[in-house]
Amino acid sequence: MTDLENFNDDYDSNNSGNSAFYELFNQQITRRDLIKKTAGGAAALALATSLTGCSDDDNNDDQLSPTNPDTPDINAKPESLEFKPVEKHTLSKFSVPEGYDFKILHAVGDPLHSSLPVWNENDIPSGISYERRVGDNHDGMTFFGLNVAKQNYDANASEQGLLVMNHEYIQRSDLHPRGRSFNAATITEDEALREIHAHGVSIIHLHKDPKTQEIRVDLNSPFNRRITAATEIEFRGPVRGHALVQTAFDPTSIVTRGTINNCGNGYTPWGTYLTTEENFNQYLARQKEGENADLRDEMTEHALSRYKVSNKASGYNWQSIQNPSLVQADMFSRWNTAAVAESASQDYRNTINTFGWIVEIDPFDNRSKPVKRTALGRFAHEDCRVSRAISGKPLAFYMGDDSQGEYIYKFISNALWNPSDVNGGYAAGDKYMNNGQLYVAKFDFNDATGEAKGEWLELSMNNPKITSYEKYKFQDQADILVHARIAADAADATKMDRPEWVAVNPENGEVYVTLTNNSQRGTAHQIDAANPRQYADDDDKNNRLGGNINGHIIRFREDQDDVTAKSFTWDIFLFGAESDSLPGVNLSGLTDNNDFSSPDGMWFDPRGVLWIQTDDGAYTDTTNCMMLAALPGKIGDGGVAVATAGTGSQKTPVGSKLDDSQLRRFLVGPAGCEITGVTMTPDYKAIFVNVQHPGGTWPSNQSQHLISTGIGSRPRSATVVITRKDGGVIAGEALETKQA
Ligand code: FEO
Ligand code: CA
Ligand code: CA
Ligand code: CA
Repeated sequence: MTDLENFNDDYDSNNSGNSAFYELFNQQITRRDLIKKTAGGAAALALATSLTGCSDDDNNDDQLSPTNPDTPDINAKPESLEFKPVEKHTLSKFSVPEGYDFKILHAVGDPLHSSLPVWNENDIPSGISYERRVGDNHDGMTFFGLNVAKQNYDANASEQGLLVMNHEYIQRSDLHPRGRSFNAATITEDEALREIHAHGVSIIHLHKDPKTQEIRVDLNSPFNRRITAATEIEFRGPVRGHALVQTAFDPTSIVTRGTINNCGNGYTPWGTYLTTEENFNQYLARQKEGENADLRDEMTEHALSRYKVSNKASGYNWQSIQNPSLVQADMFSRWNTAAVAESASQDYRNTINTFGWIVEIDPFDNRSKPVKRTALGRFAHEDCRVSRAISGKPLAFYMGDDSQGEYIYKFISNALWNPSDVNGGYAAGDKYMNNGQLYVAKFDFNDATGEAKGEWLELSMNNPKITSYEKYKFQDQADILVHARIAADAADATKMDRPEWVAVNPENGEVYVTLTNNSQRGTAHQIDAANPRQYADDDDKNNRLGGNINGHIIRFREDQDDVTAKSFTWDIFLFGAESDSLPGVNLSGLTDNNDFSSPDGMWFDPRGVLWIQTDDGAYTDTTNCMMLAALPGKIGDGGVAVATAGTGSQKTPVGSKLDDSQLRRFLVGPAGCEITGVTMTPDYKAIFVNVQHPGGTWPSNQSQHLISTGIGSRPRSATVVITRKDGGVIAGEALETKQA
């Protein structure tokens, strides 16, 4: 018998002794074999060299924005959007504008290596094999250009690259061989392993034909790999070695296992991926044997309740697997975060504190452990966007906590950005992400003057509101970071309508945050100017107030454009709404060509085109989830509007209304799905999105598959790549008109 750690090690060191249990071990090609098979002669040597130490130090890449100097006009920000807007629909199909094409790159269960059999609904692969298969519920995603000669990051490379993506959670009744008859109460070891491995992150090597823009998945690349809910990950930053993350797995509190509920994402200017840990609480049981409840001291109870862990089993039920045959028992028992032994070094009472972090992954380094960056705080992390990288200035990392009434945070690095740190890997991460200060946002609005300002409240032992807080006595900065939500409560931050993704405008550094919706706005959470709407759905004949049903996008600009500023100016860029809603609801004047609900995924491409994605349940009677393109102005370009707030109204600062040449629908996904995750090749000729949890039989009802051969009809989450039939720049039509 072996455990998953040995399983990992065996894969890495070509020392796969105990293969009998594993489909993988019988079939895998070890990395050394890979090097021989994928590259001949000198190229093989280069690859082998780069794999032994992936952070090479010729940092010649000062160019941080993917731009192509040969075609500057085409790669500029278009002045208007000229693709034909995609119409709303509720069909089981993926729709792109006329003149655009799409392909399904891969779907859950597809192999990440050519040695593994293809996914087949009638012969679902073993649970353990999902450590080398595409995970489920694809979410945040980033394309990292590959310098082929050096085998490292090149922000300008489009012909080859590593596509890194999150797998947020799982669709249990579509994942397992027993399908719809799956019952969590009788979960088996094989199923639990499939679930654990279907979470996390995938790294996939892609090639793009520079003429046709056709994408190919390289199933023989040694870069293809998974980080799952079982992979070893290291704590770094102030919480490393702290008692609050001590477990039986590592009593020294340095190493833990797994990343989970990976939702939004981010990337660093030095070329690493940031994944987020969102609703980690739902995986955790808190159970003692017999009649005993897991009772802890008052402060710990407050912390557990603030992070939504109660005394009960977890719906996933992984902790229930006894006497497993493939892995050590604590691979499952560790999901029980109860105090069951004498001390924290002997049980998993602290598992709760090992999740909820930003995790840095170097896609080009498959030797080192990924890193939980503890200085950025612990909460239901949705997304993490770095400020513009300006030589000699600090970096700010902006983040949302996606839960009703939660907060927006920023972390400011002590270190000043030095472009020679590109390709610096985890050492660069240590430099910029271990030392700095975490803040939380408070939004203010002066009704009389219309002035909209905000403050960054410091989350440290220097803040008297934190040190004198009644409900929780903080011991040190690590305690503040582990319990960032509680520190933010104490600091008196503004409760927001579920902060999801964050985007930084490359033109002016303004920061945008999607606030997806909040059914409790106007009830549990009082109306304010930053969260101003409470109303009834347009179609609700009974006119029941549903809080902020369709969500909005807030934006702010640091004072003096300095990321270390303690104050900022803000407005609301855009309000989600049905186009025929009342004016106090449809405050942005949305039309049929651009109306949307529940903004979630969002990204500024380096040209300055803003991509907005939806995860909606309110407008789905009319349209499936979608992605829109926008050409925003800047803060202060609108005025003050009056929002419907229950039976009254609320003044709020708004951005200028956009017509449909500045905001239009680019795609509509298949019924049942969320559209999430967006990234492009640096030449802007291919754009990738994820279709999460589609319904019906999508994608087997579409013919455009690159790996999946359409075996079976279960709905499957998938990555889609969109290109133009003429090989042109995505959303770049206006520039071509100008050039012609
Ligand atoms: Fe995972 Fe908040 O969406
Ligand atoms: Ca999301
Ligand atoms: Ca969402
Ligand atoms: Ca409706």
